[in-house]
Amino acid sequence: MWSRNALTKRLNLEWPILQAPMGNLSTPSLAAAVSNAGGLGGIGMWGFSADDAERRIAGFRQQSGGALNVNYPLWDDPGDLTGVGQEMCRRLQAFYDESGLGAMPEPVGSGGTVDAEHLAMLKHVKPEVVSFHFALPEPEVLREIKSAGIYTIASATTVAEARILEESGINAVIAQGIEAGGHRGTFTGVDIAMQPGLFALLPQVVDAVTVPVIAAGGIADGRTVAAALVLGASAVQLGTAFLRCEEANVPDDHRAALGKADDASTVVSSVVSGRPARFIRNRLIDELSQSEPLPFPAQLSITTPLRASGDPELGSLFSGQSAALTRDMPAGELVKTLASETGVCLKQFGS
Ligand SMILES: Cc1cc2nc3c(=O)[nH]c(=O)nc-3n(C[C@H](O)[C@H](O)[C@H](O)COP(=O)(O)O)c2cc1C
Repeated sequence: MWSRNALTKRLNLEWPILQAPMGNLSTPSLAAAVSNAGGLGGIGMWGFSADDAERRIAGFRQQSGGALNVNYPLWDDPGDLTGVGQEMCRRLQAFYDESGLGAMPEPVGSGGTVDAEHLAMLKHVKPEVVSFHFALPEPEVLREIKSAGIYTIASATTVAEARILEESGINAVIAQGIEAGGHRGTFTGVDIAMQPGLFALLPQVVDAVTVPVIAAGGIADGRTVAAALVLGASAVQLGTAFLRCEEANVPDDHRAALGKADDASTVVSSVVSGRPARFIRNRLIDELSQSEPLPFPAQLSITTPLRASGDPELGSLFSGQSAALTRDMPAGELVKTLASETGVCLKQFGS
């Protein structure tokens, strides 16, 4: 059976389909619907205290007895922000004025870590999977998480990054292609103009590491899942496709923009958050691109409130290149549809 392999057996998954943890756009209900349908649901821990993180995990457990992936994007504290990015702040204030949102808030931002409280919570609650984006935690923290019996995953955007993750003891590597929505997972400062597409990256990562490889970027229907499996992936991770599910915490204007997007709608830019990420191109990105962004995540703290304008031209419309392949569908139905389409596809090429 195409869906059975070492990774699906280890995590007790019916289907090798992971829902990407996507900060506060992914909810315990979204993750539970995915895990109940036989995939792996994920929730983001970005910005949550250990107590709130534990509550989110409990929210998932109330709705599902399946496996859960808990995600930690990790980054350095941006430091003192006094007087930083004044030109950018002036440009943004013009958007706040135009939308009647008053004074732009002061930029803020601290580091993303797995601190002692989060580590204690993880060892106590034991989610089946803990994943990382942008960096790995200290080796001792990673060791402690693994010795609690938790499976670990992290994103790589090149073969070299995949090798580093394997050498660090990560249990499975996500190969993230340039097509992907959201932030690039690079942790070695890969020049975005040089990040490979998934079709080129995936087989090369599969050849380079011995741990299971999870494909991410542009996967949205059975054909793209089947292609990733044929290229050697043990599983796929989809983000953009799950943004249109009713369980996702995605504003209506963002959903509408995803529904209208085509293959050429998106762009990778650092001006929304201070780190490169893929979005549906809009006025916010075009006009801010003329100024240097503040360091991540301070830039995000001054662009996110513009969502309150309700104007899709000023929102941060995260999306991958396959938005046009995505569907309005409850998450459980999406997992089952993807599984059935993949089975049909693989059968067609089985002889
Ligand atoms: C809105 C959005 C937010 C994301 N946030 C995270 C995150 O917090 N952590 C993470 O590991 N990956 C995150 N990702 C990246 C996904 O893990 C994955 O690489 C990507 O969604 C795959 O490409 P696709 O969007 O074309 O499916 C995010 C993706 C999207 C679309």
